[in-house]
Amino acid sequence: MELFEVMQRRRSIRHYKPDAVEPEKIRRLLQAAFLSPSGRNIRPWHFIVVDDRSLLDQLANAKSGARPLKTAPLAIVIAADEDTTDIWIEDSAIAAEHIHLAATDLGLGSCWVQIRGRQSITADITAEKYVQKLLGLPQSYRITCIIAIGYPVETKRPHEPEIEWDKVSHNNYGKALKL
Ligand SMILES: Cc1cc2nc3c(=O)[nH]c(=O)nc-3n(C[C@H](O)[C@H](O)[C@H](O)COP(=O)(O)O)c2cc1C
Repeated sequence: MELFEVMQRRRSIRHYKPDAVEPEKIRRLLQAAFLSPSGRNIRPWHFIVVDDRSLLDQLANAKSGARPLKTAPLAIVIAADEDTTDIWIEDSAIAAEHIHLAATDLGLGSCWVQIRGRQSITADITAEKYVQKLLGLPQSYRITCIIAIGYPVETKRPHEPEIEWDKVSHNNYGKALKL
């Protein structure tokens, strides 16, 4: 698929078929992740590929809004070592979007599940601590999000490539750009 078509077709898919994602596609998703740029090329990530149903169900309980993980047969947890860089959030977000876009290109649905800054369902710990504990991640490995992945049950219309002109300025804030 051409890049703009992939970007337009990328939608948040929250219901999946139980069919497993093929190993070759998982390999492509990881290649996409490692093609991400990172600040000073530190590459602080660690990606945990989760396909164990019991773990996926427990991840779905990490917080409210983790519903896509209830049916997804696959999830990639995006972690990054904060001891190596102060911009692990940016590095993680870019890798997450690479995976999100690659999934679309591979005919898979996917959804970003936010973990950083969220409370767990029971609210006694953060969603991040819950996931770190569940997956045995060292404390310095911070978790921005989990990408839920699988073959979609739902179909969503591709986005139109629209520009919101009121969110664009030319040289100075508020000055319209004329193209
Ligand atoms: C930073 C970020 C956090 C998000 N967190 C969640 C989430 O926790 N759960 C969820 O179901 N969707 C989540 N989403 C998906 C958004 O709701 C979705 O991207 C948005 O509604 C636009 O829809 P689209 O992805 O189909 O274009 C998140 C997306 C982003 C970029």
